[in-house]
Amino acid sequence: MWVFVVLILVSLESRWSEGCLEQERFALLQLKPFFNSLHYLDNWVEGDLNSDCCQWDWRVECNDTTGGVISLYLSGTRGLDSEMGEWYLNASLFSPFQQLQTLYLIRNGIAGCVENEGFDKLSTLSNLEALYLSGNSFNSSILSSLNTLSSLKNLSLSYNKLNGIVDIQGNLYF
Ligand SMILES: *[C@@H]1O[C@H](CO)[C@@H](O)[C@H](O)[C@H]1NC(C)=O
Ligand SMILES: *[C@@H]1O[C@H](CO)[C@@H](O)[C@H](O)[C@H]1NC(C)=O
Ligand SMILES: *[C@@H]1O[C@H](CO)[C@@H](O)[C@H](O)[C@H]1NC(C)=O
Ligand SMILES: *[C@@H]1O[C@H](CO)[C@@H](O)[C@H](O)[C@H]1NC(C)=O
Repeated sequence: MWVFVVLILVSLESRWSEGCLEQERFALLQLKPFFNSLHYLDNWVEGDLNSDCCQWDWRVECNDTTGGVISLYLSGTRGLDSEMGEWYLNASLFSPFQQLQTLYLIRNGIAGCVENEGFDKLSTLSNLEALYLSGNSFNSSILSSLNTLSSLKNLSLSYNKLNGIVDIQGNLYF
C-alpha cells in the first residue's frame, strides 16, 4: 500500500517538475509584485503541490514539450495610472523567458522603462514576435529600444504618449 502511494507521489513529482522551468518560476515570482495590484496573480505561489507555474493561471502559457513560457498575458493587472500612479518598468524582468513569443502589457500605467533596463534587454529573446503595449504612458523614447527586437512582428502602441514620426518595420497597431 505505502509502496504505491510513494510511487504515485514520485510520478506526480516528476511530471510537475517537467511542467515548468525552475528559473522561469523564479522569474514569475519576481514579476508578481509589480503586476499584482489588483490581486489577479494571487495564485502565483510556490509550493510542493503548486510548483508547475504553467498551471498557475491562464495568464501563463507554456510550450507543452519544453515547459518554457511562451505567452504572458499581463494586461490590466495593475490598474490604471489614474488609480495607481505611473511607474517605470524593468524590462529585464522578462529576459529569463527565453522561449517567450507573446507579451501582453496593455493598460498598466507604465510610463517608461527603468534607466538601462529597457526593451533592448530583450533582444536575446529570439522568439519574441508580439508585444502589446497599448494604453500605457510610453513616449517616443521607447522606439529606439524596440528597434533592437529583431524577431518582433506585431507591436501595439495605441493610447500612449508618442509623437513625431515612427519608423518601424512590421505590423504596427496604433
Ligand atoms: C514547442 O517547442 C518545440 C521544441 O522547441 C517546438 O518544435 C514547437 O514548435 C513549440 N511549440 C510552440 C507552440 O511554440
Ligand atoms: C532589473 O531586473 C533584473 C532582473 O531581475 C535585475 O538583475 C536588475 O537588478 C533590475 N534592475 C533594477 C534597476 O532594478
Ligand atoms: C520619455 O520617457 C523617458 C522615460 O522612459 C523619460 O526619461 C523622458 O524624459 C521622457 N521624455 C519626454 C519628452 O517626456
Ligand atoms: C500577430 O498579428 C496577427 C494579425 O493580427 C495575428 O494573426 C497573430 O496571431 C499575431 N501573432 C502573435 C504572436 O500574437
